[in-house]
Amino acid sequence: MKLLVIGGGGREHALAWKLKQSPRVHKVFVAPGNAGTALEDGLENLPITTIPDLVEFAKNEPIEFTVVGPEAQLAAGIVDAFRCIGLKIFGPTKQATQLEASKDYSKVLMRRYGIPTAAYATFSDPTEAHKYLDKKGVPIVIKADGLAAGKGVEVAMNLSSAHDAVDAMLISNSMGKAGARILIEEFLEGEEVSFIVMADGHHVLPLATSQDHKRLGDGDQGPNTGGMGAYSPALIVTPELRTRIISEVIKPVIRGMAQDGQHYTGFLYAGLMISQGGSINVLEYNCRMGDPETQPIMMRLKSDLSILVEHAMEGTLEEVEAEWDYRTALGVVMAAHGYPETPRRGDIIYGLSELISMEQLDKDFHVFHAGTMMGGKDNKEIVTTGGRVLCVTALGDNVKIAQHRAYEIADKIQFDGCQMRCDIGHLATSS
Ligand code: AMP
Ligand code: GLY
Repeated sequence: MKLLVIGGGGREHALAWKLKQSPRVHKVFVAPGNAGTALEDGLENLPITTIPDLVEFAKNEPIEFTVVGPEAQLAAGIVDAFRCIGLKIFGPTKQATQLEASKDYSKVLMRRYGIPTAAYATFSDPTEAHKYLDKKGVPIVIKADGLAAGKGVEVAMNLSSAHDAVDAMLISNSMGKAGARILIEEFLEGEEVSFIVMADGHHVLPLATSQDHKRLGDGDQGPNTGGMGAYSPALIVTPELRTRIISEVIKPVIRGMAQDGQHYTGFLYAGLMISQGGSINVLEYNCRMGDPETQPIMMRLKSDLSILVEHAMEGTLEEVEAEWDYRTALGVVMAAHGYPETPRRGDIIYGLSELISMEQLDKDFHVFHAGTMMGGKDNKEIVTTGGRVLCVTALGDNVKIAQHRAYEIADKIQFDGCQMRCDIGHLATSS
């Protein structure tokens, strides 16, 4: 069968790479893909991004089913457009994607169904927002309501930066429409965990746990990013905590959405804060896999992803289980100069071709691409196209070994201005 993956980041490279491992899958198209998916055996990039063109392609090829990576295409209604003419696609509908696309919608839903989350209030009037900030004090968190590609959250440690964030979003329109309404939320302390499941409208299949590293710098300092590295499993999630997350956070949202007439199908990502005392709070729901969490999770998945997706689309997820490599997988992101504010494009990346040959023999690491394309001299070089560029992911018997291996591989890759954290996995290696 031929499959289609929508997107062009590291998450989509990992999904397409994993889907292609199935003996049932002959080819995976990736739209638009990146240099990594262009070079991978059995994957083919498709330079189309508009929903009508993607529908047309899937119908004519024909594609057995499509998997959607990024939230923007989900929020734009790609699932509705495919389903409308009977094409199989895995992801939530436009309406169900509100769970991620509007933080206010998701907070109201959490409140209605008793799902634990930080106290908050919603504003579109700056004067009211400023008054509320003065009443609550700091630390406090200001969030754009809409999709802001990971840039819509200010964790304010002093009142002046809190007020500035309100003005930036509500007065200067720094986030455009996404920030025309904001949430001001209680600051939560604890350790963050990513808990991702596949959902078929009624049942869920939990994937392996993982932990992201959102800040740009070592020691979790500096600006928030889309994620600078991740590993799986997250050691903090004990079997008992996992059971509680499923019953307190995952099942209620799927049940609640179904009660509201929104049968949720697709990947569902709960970003959680686990306090020292073990209480769970939802920071956000995302209607997709995480990036870079997908890369280590896919490295550990032993089951055939194409079969899991089929069960999810048919509403029979309760019939399957996912099998995982017992080892830890750890991914280190190499990001472009200037990321996250003003990522630079066009730097040539060195060292990748030797690693591609090594990957044929050593299945315990993989370099997943994100912001890359073929370019340079004779179109034979790999150049950066901005943001997060690569995620070097490796397996090891424990976090330290996986970490050591991932950095050893990353050190073989060079490009000008590369930014890379040196401490991915630090919460697990220091305890
Ligand atoms: P979000 O997009 O809502 O997940 O927020 C992005 C990041 O901001 C999270 O991964 C956290 O690191 C941080 N954050 C969000 N909400 C809170 C909160 N209520 N308390 C503390 N940190 C938060
Ligand atoms: N790594 C965080 C996210 O994908 O939202």
